Amino acid sequence: MLERLQKIISAAGITSRRASETLIQNGQVAVNGVVVTELGTKADPDKDTITVDGKPLKISAQRIHILLNKPPGYITALKDSQSRPLVTDLLKDVPDRVYPVGRLDYNTEGLLLLTNDGEWANRLMHPRHEIEKEYHVRVRGKVIDQQLKRMADGVELEDGMTAPAVVNLVKSGEQNDWISVAIHEGRNRQVRRMCEAVSLSVVRLKRIRYGSLVLGTLRSGQFRYLTDAEVRELAGEPQNGAASAGRPRHETGHKPARSDKSGGSDRPKHSGGKVSGRRQ
Ligand code: URA
Repeated sequence: MLERLQKIISAAGITSRRASETLIQNGQVAVNGVVVTELGTKADPDKDTITVDGKPLKISAQRIHILLNKPPGYITALKDSQSRPLVTDLLKDVPDRVYPVGRLDYNTEGLLLLTNDGEWANRLMHPRHEIEKEYHVRVRGKVIDQQLKRMADGVELEDGMTAPAVVNLVKSGEQNDWISVAIHEGRNRQVRRMCEAVSLSVVRLKRIRYGSLVLGTLRSGQFRYLTDAEVRELAGEPQNGAASAGRPRHETGHKPARSDKSGGSDRPKHSGGKVSGRRQ
């Protein structure tokens, strides 16, 4: 069946749809030996020989969806000019090449998805889906109420105002406080920059939830395969007749986010305009 080249390339797990378009425009893709640079071009993956950088595309029948607990000090990329450890180094015995869905900074830890299923990755990353991601942030010193409220309402960053977020204090310690920040945007270093904007110094940043998926008890550096139900639910496909759109399974209304290490706090919680997906 004829399909657009960028769709075939992303479905083969090479990279996302958008990055596949760049490969085409850069002249890195050929069909039956002829370089193609036009984005609308179609090909038949069963009949045509498609190459990327001279290498034939391997169309994998098996779709792989992985949840990794990324440790700090790993780069979310398939290669690194500085030879730093790659998140894919942690994936022992995975039968096919997978690539990350979005990214976590080098020093950010926690829930990272990887897949060879380009269509699924595209769905998850499409802004229309607005999948909420929740982070736990250890900050230096004490947080004041006004800082949480400002982050929840939206702060001015160099690339514009942030959308309303759900921001809670989850634990208060002697040296540090822990806050949770749930956002549905995916801007570069967004949580770190939101903290900076309200003069909070980030000591540790960990993603603990991605839509309906929680990190749970998976140890740092370990990974697991998602179930079919988790794959479908995250992509917003109906589960037993009900549309779920990647919402958390634990959602019970307006309970604040809680750290698994915390006993919670009596201090105030803040939510911006949109309140959704908070864990209990
Ligand atoms: N926000 C950040 O600042 N860093 C990440 O890695 C993810 C979200």
